[in-house]
Amino acid sequence: EMESTFAMIKPDGVSGNYTRDIKKIISDSGFGIIEEVMVQLDEDTVKNFYAEHSSRSFFPRLVQYMTSGPVLIMVLDKANAVADWRVLIGPTDAETAKVTHPHSIRAMCGLNLQRNCVHGSDSPQSAVREIAFFFKKSSSGFYSKHD
Ligand code: CMP
Repeated sequence: EMESTFAMIKPDGVSGNYTRDIKKIISDSGFGIIEEVMVQLDEDTVKNFYAEHSSRSFFPRLVQYMTSGPVLIMVLDKANAVADWRVLIGPTDAETAKVTHPHSIRAMCGLNLQRNCVHGSDSPQSAVREIAFFFKKSSSGFYSKHD
């Protein structure tokens, strides 16, 4: 049955003009883009969104990167959306992706372990949390908390 996942084109993907290509891949792969909003994230939002990484040494750099420009946040719908979106984006490290998953989105537009162009929820539980973090549900669907 239908499943929703949370996807984001990160600042390097947006500034690198990959948005159109990524959205075409999403549609061609059978996902519905049921919500999409361009937002500039602030530090507090990034720190809360990535709270599970807050003790990691890369966290300050992650916050700097994720606030460096606008991102496109999306809700994608499809059967098995969470796992299938993770397959489509490829490994976290874009340098690895270029070698092991050359047709993945991160191979196409990512740079390295940090600047990896796109995000995808890592589990159905994460998807529920991440969608609720950015979008509110209304009777007619979702609306963004950020526009
Ligand atoms: P994402 O899948 O969005 O989840 C957390 C993000 O933190 C990840 O993509 C990368 O952008 C970044 N990240 C994860 N691990 C590292 C690392 N070891 N060094 C730098 N950045 C990282």
